Amino acid sequence: MITARTETLGGDTAGLSRAAEILSAGGLVAMPTETVYGLAADARNDLAVARIFEAKGRPRFNPLIVHLADAAAAGDYVEWSDTAQKLADAFWPGPLTLVLPLRPDSGLSPLVTAELPSLAVRVPAHPLAHALLQEFGGPVAAPSANLSGRISPTEPRHVLDGLSGRIEAVLDGGACPVGVESTIVGLTGTPTLLRPGGVAAEEIEQVLGQKLALHTDGDPLIAPGQMTSHYAPGAKVRLNADHAEPGEALLGFGPMACTLNLSERGDLTEAAANLFHHLHALDAMTPAGIAVAPIPDTGLGRAINDRLRRAAAPR
Ligand code: TXA
Ligand code: MG
Repeated sequence: MITARTETLGGDTAGLSRAAEILSAGGLVAMPTETVYGLAADARNDLAVARIFEAKGRPRFNPLIVHLADAAAAGDYVEWSDTAQKLADAFWPGPLTLVLPLRPDSGLSPLVTAELPSLAVRVPAHPLAHALLQEFGGPVAAPSANLSGRISPTEPRHVLDGLSGRIEAVLDGGACPVGVESTIVGLTGTPTLLRPGGVAAEEIEQVLGQKLALHTDGDPLIAPGQMTSHYAPGAKVRLNADHAEPGEALLGFGPMACTLNLSERGDLTEAAANLFHHLHALDAMTPAGIAVAPIPDTGLGRAINDRLRRAAAPR
């Protein structure tokens, strides 16, 4: 199903109740979260979830994260654990996703988990995401609201550039404050970092009192969606650059001459918030290529470097 026109909804009572009504009718709403915009659908509705995959051009084997209004709801869908509770207490609501064993009586569409025995759950901190989840009153499946393989959206305009006419509505929450997706931690066995993201791995390790195991790319059973090429702008991306070649745009970090700077003062939180915004903006200039300055690989720098490596990967 292709809808003719995508509505832009404000974050007031009228906008929120319209967004909830669309979700209840099996429609798709792009909702702001603190990380990136998510493409939301009722996670119990097969047709609605199928439309997420269709609208994004996403492979069916790549499972979705279920978004909940509060941690108390998680036990309805996954086998909750003490470790999960510890992490939820420390980081929810917020940019952390937990992968836990799926409950057989979850009532979710099997498309959500791509038939895996585990489910990814998250309680977002963005006030509009929270308000929509409360108003809707059920589990919401939401991948990032971009065409599969392209740069994630941190503004309503980015969503519309990719998905206008393919989804019912965008709930306008302005720019997403964190700017990179949630950190994904697997808790089906040894706690494992499946994707670096908006919560620094070091902070999670501190709460757990142990190191996270590292997930290696390409293990299809662990994180099927972590495909190497991802977040791809139209232009070719070159990493660890100290200057731009003729025709290239330079994405800088720290004090330097460049086309756009992720953070002049070398702040990784600010750089994460600017990352997708700047990639979208540089791509719109249609340069011969995008050269990127080196970024420290600690804290949020790990999420930034993960996204940049995928943006630079052969397609
Ligand atoms: O910040 C975020 O997490 C955003 C916002 C919208 O919440 N969502 C997001 O969703 O980034 P998406 O679909 O773009 O990325 C979800 C990742 C994919 O790599 C997927 O493979 C992985 O989570 N995933 C989902 N369910 C999983 C599971 N059961 N086991 C392992 N990985 C899973
Ligand atoms: Mg995504």
